[in-house]
Amino acid sequence: MSDSTADAAYASPAIEGARRTGTPELVELYEEIADCPACGLARTRTQTVPGSGPAPAEVMCVGEGPGAREDEQGLPFVGAAGRFLDELLGGIGMSRETVHIANVVKCRPPGNRDPQPEEIAACQPFLERQIALVDPLLIVTLGRFSMARWFAGTTISRIHGQPKRVGNRLVVPMFHPAAALRRGELRTVIAADFARIPELIEEARAIRTEAPSDAAAEPFAATAPAAPPSEQRALL
Ligand code: URA
Repeated sequence: MSDSTADAAYASPAIEGARRTGTPELVELYEEIADCPACGLARTRTQTVPGSGPAPAEVMCVGEGPGAREDEQGLPFVGAAGRFLDELLGGIGMSRETVHIANVVKCRPPGNRDPQPEEIAACQPFLERQIALVDPLLIVTLGRFSMARWFAGTTISRIHGQPKRVGNRLVVPMFHPAAALRRGELRTVIAADFARIPELIEEARAIRTEAPSDAAAEPFAATAPAAPPSEQRALL
């Protein structure tokens, strides 16, 4: 078998998932991401981790970037933080099968370091396309890097759980599940924020009924979000 035949036959778990529960456009996006050479993370990744879950979907969670487990398996949130995310979703009668899960960067930063501004900027067009294809009613940002995409110049301690309308959807910032695993007192905070998701979905459905198209959507942000304030660094 030639290399190109082998490439054509191989589909990562994320691409297989997109074929099952997404659209041809989502499959195409994931295939493009799989070959992405746009930043240095392409040299150190095992594979890309574009996302999981249905498209379209009412709820989309956006994390930071893949860790070691995700890099190995090609799917987002499959390690300890992912198990906690599953628990949080289960607590509100949801599951990862009904939620689209993505990250700000699609390749693992080596040693789980923070993604760098140029890496976030290189990946941003993928995230924008993914959001457009998933077209969620509600975006849940997990941690400071995805929060910085929509909420500049503030801290997660100040605004977690408080939704903001962006175009015809809601975006709500939440602590990263990994932060709650490190700091036990955040577990009840993040669980209380997740408990509001069903009510936020209802609110977002009403917004969508009144504004079916995303005419008021924010302009595409051409630059990477500024680094989150240092107060947030310890909070992920
Ligand atoms: N943390 C993230 O932000 N994303 C993952 O996919 C896994 C852990």
